[in-house]
Amino acid sequence: MAHFTDPKHLLSEQYNDDAKLNVRLALHERFGTNPYAWHRWVFDQMSMLPGDTVLEIGCGSGALWLKNRDRLPEPNRCTLSDFSLGMVTTSRQALSEAGFEPRFAGADGQALPFAAGTFDVVIANHMLYHVPNRAQAIDEFRRVLRPGGRMYAATNGRNHMHELVGAFADRIDDLDEFGLESGVGQLERSFLNVEVRRYDDALAITEVAPALAYIRSVWPDGVVAEEELDRLRASIESAIASEGAYHVTKDAGLLIATR
Ligand SMILES: C[S@@+](CC[C@H](N)C(=O)[O-])C[C@H]1O[C@@H](n2cnc3c(N)ncnc32)[C@H](O)[C@@H]1O
Repeated sequence: MAHFTDPKHLLSEQYNDDAKLNVRLALHERFGTNPYAWHRWVFDQMSMLPGDTVLEIGCGSGALWLKNRDRLPEPNRCTLSDFSLGMVTTSRQALSEAGFEPRFAGADGQALPFAAGTFDVVIANHMLYHVPNRAQAIDEFRRVLRPGGRMYAATNGRNHMHELVGAFADRIDDLDEFGLESGVGQLERSFLNVEVRRYDDALAITEVAPALAYIRSVWPDGVVAEEELDRLRASIESAIASEGAYHVTKDAGLLIATR
């Protein structure tokens, strides 16, 4: 099943609002072992100079900006975009309540409504694996960047969370198509100096319900059978009882490239 890159599924079931995304973010926030939070680390890796124009593509719930409130760039030089208008509405409201009012746009990464060379920085975190025509999107990211501009794309490595999701990964044909390993060559066709930086983290899960909610937030109803979820529940309960936690590998990071 190729639901991971099916825009109809993504817009109607997955990203019509931020509910499912927040279930996944919450698992990482509650049970991640690295006390230095992911969105803080991502922000640290990015070079945003005063006066830079910044475009985020696939901004989701706006978490990158909400978690870095103390060091935000000038709002009138930042544009946050997403192809889901539900996400645009949610992130606009959350950021406005947090006192940050950048520009917003509803935009598909494969056809960006911006002139060539408009931005100094393009950010596309955990979204390129959802794009059916990734080569076209990557060309678009290059087009809207000025020469010398920086492109940041967070994604996951092949081993990411395999203890939790590995048993069901075969139900998503297109899961690993833009990862920390497979993304490098794709970016190198349009960008220079592609670099991979990994975030050091793991999950020590001490409650069953958030782990099962994570699975339910990724796979559409019925794709993972209730008996499979029962087996997973039993493994997690047993690990929590014997070791205090269910341990899950994480392998997320950032691809960084120059136009
Ligand atoms: C996994 S979420 C990541 C959200 C955010 N960047 C983050 O890291 O928390 C993926 C986001 O990309 C958006 N998205 C998926 N396909 C897209 C496309 N073709 N163009 C623009 N946004 C897209 C989704 O609506 C969703 O908000």
